[in-house]
Amino acid sequence: MAFHQLAINAAKYGALSTPEGCVGIRWWAEAGSEDATLVVEWREEGSPQVSPPQRQEFGSRLIERALAPDLGGSAALVFDPEGVVCTIRAALPDATQ
Ligand SMILES: Nc1ncnc2c1ncn2[C@@H]1O[C@H](COP(=O)(O)OP(=O)(O)O)[C@@H](O)[C@H]1O
Ligand SMILES: [Mg+2]
Repeated sequence: MAFHQLAINAAKYGALSTPEGCVGIRWWAEAGSEDATLVVEWREEGSPQVSPPQRQEFGSRLIERALAPDLGGSAALVFDPEGVVCTIRAALPDATQ
């Protein structure tokens, strides 16, 4: 659902609203003292000028507030003028246990 909201917003306001725009999705694992963390980054490029939103509606609320407790992690949306960046962090339980 979070990716669906990110994609809808990108198509309405962000990088996917222009022919040149694109979205890069990267993910990696970070070692920690206990569990590792899975980090997923959604980064929009070629977006029309982005300004911080006046209000947060369903899409950004779902991403920032509902996703984090589901994942045991965090989700942050940054309205960079170049394009929205969403960083999602989730605990990655040790698969060897
Ligand atoms: N990818 C994006 N690029 C630029 N602005 C965005 C993007 N996603 C969201 N926004 C801004 O954040 C506001 C809130 O988004 P959202 O909570 O999904 O509500 P809605 O889509 O109903 O407007 C949008 O109205 C828009 O101004
Ligand atoms: Mg939306």
